[in-house]
Amino acid sequence: MDDRPIGVFDSGVGGLTVVKEIIRQLPQEDIVYFGDTAHLPYGPKSFQTIKRLVRDNIHFLLKKKIKAVILACHTASAFTLEEMREENPIPIIGVIRPGAGEALRVTKNKRIGVIGTYGTIKSGAYAKELKRLEPEAFVIEKPCPLFVPLVEEGWIEKEATRLIVREYLEPLKEEEIDTLILGCTHYPLLKKEITQVMGEVSLIDSARATVGRLKRILEEKNLLAREGVPRHSFFVSDAPERFARLGKIFLGKEIEKVERV
Ligand code: DGL
Repeated sequence: MDDRPIGVFDSGVGGLTVVKEIIRQLPQEDIVYFGDTAHLPYGPKSFQTIKRLVRDNIHFLLKKKIKAVILACHTASAFTLEEMREENPIPIIGVIRPGAGEALRVTKNKRIGVIGTYGTIKSGAYAKELKRLEPEAFVIEKPCPLFVPLVEEGWIEKEATRLIVREYLEPLKEEEIDTLILGCTHYPLLKKEITQVMGEVSLIDSARATVGRLKRILEEKNLLAREGVPRHSFFVSDAPERFARLGKIFLGKEIEKVERV
């Protein structure tokens, strides 16, 4: 048994969908969340900048004596997972492999779409992972950079958002995909609008599969926490009030305290 907290890192508020899933699957675990809100968005940034930021932020979490980290940010996972694993002594779990695995479990025709930030799509990380697991898979990738600011603005059920979703996704419909990976922390909040455009396509939100993987790792390494009242702490690099306000949408409940570091 190990009562140290689980660290969750994201560029901002989107990783709270992973926190929500940890609370569901591992309710006894303490959580320390860090959102790098001073540097959001990571999506259009260079590999070098993202690596520097992720490294600094993992160091911050390590100081909180965590036992494992989830890189909830898809862009950070796509660019830095392997290096962060080599550099750090605790399990580091990314969102790409669990999401790709889930998509392959769900697809029937092996035609899979991936949407994400410019960085995630440019890295080709999802396509590589899908092809590694299933060489016969057909993968089509598309960046949807405007989705993040729309969600950050709370523009979920707006006409303008519907138009933008349609503009990005309409071309994907011609590819006859039956599964679409929502390869960005923010996109699950647009599920309804995405379904309206894509119709009968299975949408993959990697949070559930990622936390499932975390759970298996903690079990294997005998790192699960004992039963008790869990503590959830939230840190950001800027604008804690905004984080708390938006966080309510992602987490589905009030966040009482957010500290700026
Ligand atoms: N967290 C990022 C991701 O999942 C989206 C927001 C950003 O660009 O920083 O890729």
